[in-house]
Amino acid sequence: MRGLCADVRLHVDGFIQPLFVEQGITSPTPAAGLTGVRIDTDVTILETIASDLAAGVSKFLLFPIPVKSKGDGFDFSFAAGVIARVRSVFGDAVWLAADLCLCSYTSHGHCGILSQDGNRLVNGETVQVLADYASVLAGAGADCIAPSDMTDGRIAAIRHRLDAEGFESVSIMSYAAKFSSQFYGPFRDACHSAPAAGLSLRDRRTYQISPLHGGDAVDSALRDLNEGADILMVKPAALYTDIISAIRRETRAPIAAYHVSGEYAALEGLVRDGLADRAAVHLEVWTALQRSGAGIIISYAARQAQAWIQNYIP
Ligand code: PBG
Repeated sequence: MRGLCADVRLHVDGFIQPLFVEQGITSPTPAAGLTGVRIDTDVTILETIASDLAAGVSKFLLFPIPVKSKGDGFDFSFAAGVIARVRSVFGDAVWLAADLCLCSYTSHGHCGILSQDGNRLVNGETVQVLADYASVLAGAGADCIAPSDMTDGRIAAIRHRLDAEGFESVSIMSYAAKFSSQFYGPFRDACHSAPAAGLSLRDRRTYQISPLHGGDAVDSALRDLNEGADILMVKPAALYTDIISAIRRETRAPIAAYHVSGEYAALEGLVRDGLADRAAVHLEVWTALQRSGAGIIISYAARQAQAWIQNYIP
């Protein structure tokens, strides 16, 4: 009866596994705080994907970590090379979304270009560079572009550029409701993307959404949908199920909940201390995310989803 009457049925088809790949490292390194997650080289990433496919997950969100450039220019060739290689090895067996942001490229760690005085992010110029980057990623074979920078107008600019270049079928998963959060710590550590110390723009609060302003998140999702986003993302996820529900009510778009690095690491901490069952605690969070309206779940444990769901006794 419990299974029959369930409101929620999790299935591995709705899961996306984040992947980290770093330029210039010679062997994979574990990601601090993220049990079961490693930072791959451009060679070992292929082993990781092969093993994930065998475990049943076929959708990925790729975070390329380039060597930081010394000058002002941006060199997207590492990211493009990795995507092209994954595409040529795995073909259509994988669905590959590429994160689109400048924070692991800039020396200061902000998600875009800073003004001369360093006090703000220059929106227009950043959007132009992001559109260039999107075109490189699509050209290399990405199925989906996932902009995480939070500049205004980027979805329209990217959609326009992709369409103009014949990439009409490349989709956009917008980090539409991305809150300014303490829960990105392990990710920033892995990607060397925390804002540098001593900057006048100390954190990302001027361009990410304030947790005090839930309405902004809903507005941002509606705006991104209008500009051409195919999937709307909410992150962090478990603390923001009210926002997931609100966006679900206001739109009919697919909604992705990103259970981010700090949220994941917090659960893994409980598990490490022997205070929670690993599979059950993740399944409980995933259930809550789906129940609140997210059909797509991005989790660092997506590679476990099939096995855990199969053995789950509701
Ligand atoms: C970069 C980006 C961040 C995440 C995804 N893309 C971090 C940030 O805004 O600093 C967070 C993902 C995670 O914590 O798992 N713009």
